[in-house]
Amino acid sequence: MIRLLVNFFVFVVDFVYRDRTYPRFYVLETIARVPYFAYLSVLHLYETLGLWRKSDWLKVHFAESWNELHHLLIMESLGGNAWWVDRLLARSVATAYYWICVLLYMVAPRSAYYFMELVEGHAYHTYSIFLQEHELELKALPAPEVAVSYYTRGDLYMFDEFQTARRPEERRPVIETLYDTFKNIRDDEQEHVKTMVACQSPEAQKTFKSPHSALPTSPEREPAHLP
Ligand SMILES: [Fe+2]
Ligand SMILES: [Fe+2]
Repeated sequence: MIRLLVNFFVFVVDFVYRDRTYPRFYVLETIARVPYFAYLSVLHLYETLGLWRKSDWLKVHFAESWNELHHLLIMESLGGNAWWVDRLLARSVATAYYWICVLLYMVAPRSAYYFMELVEGHAYHTYSIFLQEHELELKALPAPEVAVSYYTRGDLYMFDEFQTARRPEERRPVIETLYDTFKNIRDDEQEHVKTMVACQSPEAQKTFKSPHSALPTSPEREPAHLP
């Protein structure tokens, strides 16, 4: 059912936006980060109620939403949000989608992660096809400033923190052209897939750590269950 839902949603967006690439990516990126907001909200609620504490899950999901935020900023810098109809559509769908994700995550967290694994996998394939079909034209265009800044400058702690299959500082993109930008957005989506797979592991409640927390020098923060 989850697979059918994802396929249906993707079909509708791809059909409606078949000739408008950047608005399509803007809509997809607006909606695609909403599940991470939902996971964060539910995990905060569990902590507030004293049921469960897992700071690493909060850290990783926030870093994932931070990464998707920058995908969104890149699409906005390319004019994807220029038309109010696209903004209204993306925000309306995202608002409804948030509550669906909250409910799904509360009732069946592993299914919620599986759902996101499929969504992120679809994003990876969408960007791969886009790169193949527009390689020359993308290589002739400069990278947006926001992409250069996010991927290459300053504090890259958050950039490392959503990639749970890698060690900190393992991946350092070179961003010169628009092709490099989309290639790295695509690669980010693949890292999200890996993180969603890790979250579904039966052992994840005991073993899941953010890349920096997994370093030997990192302190133990708390048991999974609050005293
Ligand atoms: Fe994205
Ligand atoms: Fe994504």
